[in-house]
Amino acid sequence: MPETLSPLHAQIDWDEQGRPHSRQYNDIYFSKDQSLEETQYVFIEQNRLRERFAALTTNGCLVIGETGFGTGLNFFCAWQLFAAQAPVDARLHFVSVEKYPLSHADLARALRLWPDLAPFSAPLLEQYVAVHPGFQRFSFDQGRVTLTLLIGDVLEQLPLLEASVDVWFLDGFAPAKNPDMWTPELYAQLARLSGPGTTLATFTTTGWVRRGLIAAGFKMKKVPGIGKKWEVMHGEFLGCPVDQPVPLPVPPWYACPPVLGGPREALVIGAGLAGSATAASLAARGWQVSVLERHDAPAQEASGNPQGVLYLKLSAHGTALSQLILAGFGYTRRWLERLQRGHDWDACGVLQLAFDDKEAARQARLAEAFDATLLQVLDRPQAEAIAGVELASGGLYYPEGGWVHPPALCRAQLRHPRIRLLTHQEVVELRRVDSGWQAWAGDRLLASAPLVILAGAADVRRFAPCAALPLKRIRGQITRLPANDGSRALATVVCAEGYVAPAMADEHTLGASFDFHSDDLTPTEAEHRGNLGLLREISEDLARRLQVDAMDPAGIEGRAAFRCTSPDYLPIVGPLADSTRFAEAYAVLGKDARQVPGTPCPWLEGLYVNTGHGSRGLITAPLSGELIAAWISGEPLPVSRAVAQACHPNRFMLREVIRGARR
Ligand SMILES: Cc1cc2nc3c(=O)[nH]c(=O)nc-3n(C[C@H](O)[C@H](O)[C@H](O)COP(=O)(O)OP(=O)(O)OC[C@H]3O[C@@H](n4cnc5c(N)ncnc54)[C@H](O)[C@@H]3O)c2cc1C
Ligand SMILES: C[S@@+](CC[C@H](N)C(=O)[O-])C[C@H]1O[C@@H](n2cnc3c(N)ncnc32)[C@H](O)[C@@H]1O
Repeated sequence: MPETLSPLHAQIDWDEQGRPHSRQYNDIYFSKDQSLEETQYVFIEQNRLRERFAALTTNGCLVIGETGFGTGLNFFCAWQLFAAQAPVDARLHFVSVEKYPLSHADLARALRLWPDLAPFSAPLLEQYVAVHPGFQRFSFDQGRVTLTLLIGDVLEQLPLLEASVDVWFLDGFAPAKNPDMWTPELYAQLARLSGPGTTLATFTTTGWVRRGLIAAGFKMKKVPGIGKKWEVMHGEFLGCPVDQPVPLPVPPWYACPPVLGGPREALVIGAGLAGSATAASLAARGWQVSVLERHDAPAQEASGNPQGVLYLKLSAHGTALSQLILAGFGYTRRWLERLQRGHDWDACGVLQLAFDDKEAARQARLAEAFDATLLQVLDRPQAEAIAGVELASGGLYYPEGGWVHPPALCRAQLRHPRIRLLTHQEVVELRRVDSGWQAWAGDRLLASAPLVILAGAADVRRFAPCAALPLKRIRGQITRLPANDGSRALATVVCAEGYVAPAMADEHTLGASFDFHSDDLTPTEAEHRGNLGLLREISEDLARRLQVDAMDPAGIEGRAAFRCTSPDYLPIVGPLADSTRFAEAYAVLGKDARQVPGTPCPWLEGLYVNTGHGSRGLITAPLSGELIAAWISGEPLPVSRAVAQACHPNRFMLREVIRGARR
């Protein structure tokens, strides 16, 4: 299928020397002959990266921020030098903002100009999928190198970033061609995200840019240039000048807890999607992780279905949930590229049928709000051509979606030399001791570590610090249907109130029921009948091909498990605090909710939770592992500040405190 180009992407013309030229900015991305030298000289040398990479300590991480990712040339050059200079256990985190990302085809074409950089550019090309607006995280070299792309205008995206940046690459076309970017608002954001010792380099020496950076708190110096650039500039952050408005502080209940010292040893309780992802993200950052799981293998509960759907329930209003879904979808989708396609997952697309007028109207709004590379409205014949079977209606098609075998994703995430899976270990109690936390089963000490992440879905509530989390269990049952020659025509996942997936091995998964009351996980005939009804609503044709009318519900196979949901449908991800001391510390909010008391949050040091993934754990759990790891290591967050706060476990205690005094 030819690649869809959209207004979201860079509109590129190629000159006779094969260089990309931006139609949007009427400027070249780089000069063919000297671009590598320019990058080396302007960004790498002026920021003294060679010595700073070499000086990184064990598990140290250098954070580079950039305006204008373009073809990624600066990123690859920085990574190349990092690979050559940094200690093996150090990390590089590159955050770059890009308003117009290149299409895959244009990126591949541009990168062919730099064959020597292929060891770095090829991994990006392999993962360059589902790059949609907002935060898009990539992980390379077993997690040693992280790339967080912020897709959108730098003036909109940087204010959303929660990070501490060590080095800035100020790229982004010449100020004369792109005056909208080079503004005091940008410099204020650079200052907000900088700290003592943060350096900056840029190819421009334009007077108003230099003065703007100085006014924001950078000491700037012009130095001799390179090639056609007569002079370039570097600078160092000295601190926010007194006459500049001070950025609003993050409220203490959402601030990053102090980074833990001591040995990097962690316990993760639960080996479903949330626990496996958390273990993977921590192991990538040098943590020795023991995963305690009560069953004999990972993914035996909610994460144990044969096929789950990468289902994006988006909102046209850009809610926190919708932003999380878009960021999470991208991250999961890139992770899946490492698994066996067709066996462990398939990028066969997902079609959401417009099953009534209300849904059709919702889909039309989404098509206006999002790009055609993400979703497309299809009429019924178009939808049927993609699905390979007759359908009840047209709908919304997500070409990058598909199905996943969740246990395969869990196993892949747990496959790391620093992760130890301990099965048949049911943790009953957590005890705080001087050196951290102990996990007990009756009088048996199972394990201990300074850091513990609770990833046991609704069962996290058995531990006192999570007892008050408003989690609900919702039983769900899937039905497994044997595939046949006729049903194998199904070529994409199709969803309406339920969903059906193309065959994995010799079976289709059909889902799923919702039961808010039952505690019994024995599959029932009634729910199989219900699921068959959902299938008929999707496609009578497929139901006929699968001969469901002739099926005896007593002989149908399936499985049931509990989803675990929160009242706002957002997961619960982050550090935990002591509830009694929290209520005391912030009692004043009960009188005036606008106050931001200075009292630090009474964190339970080293205790975190990752749960509440509801019906979309495939999309939210892997990125939540990155979010937990970012909180723990003080690294740039993989989601906007607002999304991280919307998922924060403290949100519930905060509401209680605010509501408390009004009663
Ligand atoms: C029927 C059904 C259909 C679904 N379909 C989809 C779908 O199509 N797409 C999608 O994205 N999502 C889907 N989901 C949701 C998705 O499966 C969940 O969001 C996800 O699996 C949650 O992962 P988790 O790790 O939080 O929980 P779980 O997978 O339940 O893992 C929790 C783990 O913790 C262990 N544990 C708990 N307490 C302890 C303890 N004290 N000691 C030791 N171990 C403990 C459990 O044994 C378990 O292995 C579906 C869910 C259901 C039930
Ligand atoms: C000169 S190119 C960057 C070159 C790039 N660093 C490289 O290595 O290829 C400038 C980039 O900045 C991006 N850009 C320009 N203005 C922007 C803005 N306001 N917000 C985000 N990105 C912007 C452009 O789309 C373009 O990709």
